[in-house]
Amino acid sequence: MSNYHIKHLEEYYQVYRKSVRDPEAFWEEIAEEHFVWRKKWDKVLSWDFKKPEVKWFEGARLNITENCLDRHLPTRGTKTAILFEPNDPSEEAQHITYRQLHEKVCRMANVLKDQGIGKGDRVCVYLPMIPELAITVLACARIGAIHSVVFAGFSSNALSTRINDSDCKLVVTSDGSYRGSKTIDLKGIVDSALKDCPGVKTVLVAKRIGSEVSMKSGRDLWLEPLVEDAYADCNAELMEAEDPLFILYTSGSTGKPKGMVHSCAGYMVYSAYTFKNIFQYKEDDIYWCTADIGWITGHSYIVYGPLANGATTVMFEGVPSYPDFGRFWEVVQKHKINQFYTAPTAIRALAKESLDFVEKYDLSSLKVLGSVGEPINEEAWHWYNNNIGKGKSPIVDTWWQTETGGIMISPIPYVTPTTPTYATLPFIGIQPALMDEEGKEIKGNQVDGRLCIKFPWPSMARTIWGDHDRYRDTYFSAYENKYFTGDGALRDAVGYYRITGRVDDVIIVSGHNLGTAPIEDSINEHPAVAESAIVGFPHDVKGNALYGFIILKETGESRDRDNLRKEVNQQITEQIGPIAKLDKIQFVPGLPKTRSGKIMRRILRKIAGKDAENLGDISTLLNPEVVKEIKDNAL
Ligand code: WT7
Repeated sequence: MSNYHIKHLEEYYQVYRKSVRDPEAFWEEIAEEHFVWRKKWDKVLSWDFKKPEVKWFEGARLNITENCLDRHLPTRGTKTAILFEPNDPSEEAQHITYRQLHEKVCRMANVLKDQGIGKGDRVCVYLPMIPELAITVLACARIGAIHSVVFAGFSSNALSTRINDSDCKLVVTSDGSYRGSKTIDLKGIVDSALKDCPGVKTVLVAKRIGSEVSMKSGRDLWLEPLVEDAYADCNAELMEAEDPLFILYTSGSTGKPKGMVHSCAGYMVYSAYTFKNIFQYKEDDIYWCTADIGWITGHSYIVYGPLANGATTVMFEGVPSYPDFGRFWEVVQKHKINQFYTAPTAIRALAKESLDFVEKYDLSSLKVLGSVGEPINEEAWHWYNNNIGKGKSPIVDTWWQTETGGIMISPIPYVTPTTPTYATLPFIGIQPALMDEEGKEIKGNQVDGRLCIKFPWPSMARTIWGDHDRYRDTYFSAYENKYFTGDGALRDAVGYYRITGRVDDVIIVSGHNLGTAPIEDSINEHPAVAESAIVGFPHDVKGNALYGFIILKETGESRDRDNLRKEVNQQITEQIGPIAKLDKIQFVPGLPKTRSGKIMRRILRKIAGKDAENLGDISTLLNPEVVKEIKDNAL
């Protein structure tokens, strides 16, 4: 029996039981047999969810890039590591072998060192989906610098907040990026962000679109000549197991974004182990995850998980709708993709288009289909299953979070029988619990509650950068001795989990995690706005869309409403990014509030979702009369 690669259901149950009965022995064996270490650990696990503090493989020394690159050179040197598919289908795809990737990473690592970057320094990576993005991430890991990738769709404001929060000294970006038929001026966005970032001393600029950009002397350097001049070899920095590997920001329901910190050893072990099993990756397979490396999905399942397994991983620069809605399927045919991992929002968008876009292409190479980012609705699941998988490729509905580092609840394809809309069973080593509102665990099946995890797993985030108290308060204070996910879930008669959605003020829009507070803050800065509240409402492509209720100041009352709507969305685009724009904006005379002054979002959510028939008892509100007014004028 191989604990590393699970091939049938009975084996899953056996290995699962083992992983729960003696987690330390279980993970020790996985770590020992499937990774290279410069020094083994003294202790597999120590943990305390009260502090909270979790340490895996303490005392071990390693470098994750030796596991992702060096160790493959003797056997996989000429195998494609990264297959780059450009935005424009007429531009040739690039096959970067393990040997070439190793060299590119080493050169980039030396470039960073030459710029004074060393172990523990933070490097902000603001790049489009081009090979330089993966190379820079790995180059940071090579020298022990902590990468903080910021999704290149975020605005300059969002970028500067993230750069400053973790005191990044250096930014890697490109002149611009392609997005379908458009180009985006990334360097311009960086320039405007850096007006507020005095700590950034150096900006390295990759050339992608060949646009003219301004280069600030003493700060900005073109990347290519530096890479050409750099040595092609670079020793890997020896890292402690618990040293931070990267920071990745995620939205909170309140306050500024949270810089989740992931550490070297545990993250490596868990991302690699989940990748191998949940995609059933075999040596000659071509694997494609359509996410952006700016999100955790890309970190774990485009870069680290696949490369640690010596896989061929596709990096796609483009969008599903360019040059037409058949692009995904064209790429599947062209590269004979075996595992395809995408988001429900993309599936729903493509399902709206003609089936001709699908039927033109040969999709027979597909063996596994994946879904991630939000609950997949039944209709989308069947469309995906029937038209893309032709009923033959299992769908893995993978539930996890930026904070969890790797997939937590998911079927194992060809092992776990799937049920539409169910993420099914906990992955090996994961111990979920459903909790009631009083803080008691709900045992048994056919129950629902708030989803917690009761035992540490190797790739959990260790802290929030610079704010350990917030880490404790957000994840470990709602339920004693448990990690609280923020999601609700149900467990059916056979023990399968179905994620029902967020139970806090985070809204998942097109698979992107958005907090209400930063958006409201941005709206409230508009001179005509007095106060605002954002809620999500069901949307047939995005899953959820944003509905804003806005109270105007007296000075704003005379303004044209449509112009105001445009200005508010413009402001959100500038401060956060276009993904946070509001679909609907209703101007209201007041917001329903409790006597303690808290906005009753539950009521607003019902109104926005056209489900306002039964609002429950509103008589205890401070201002119940406003509810009818809002309801009557709902959009
Ligand atoms: C939130 C985490 C994990 C990578 C992408 C998102 C929701 C994620 C599923 C799924 C239902 C899901 C949850 C979770 N979510 N995957 N398969 N089914 N909901 O990472 O931005 O940290 O968002 O996404 O609500 O808490 P993230």
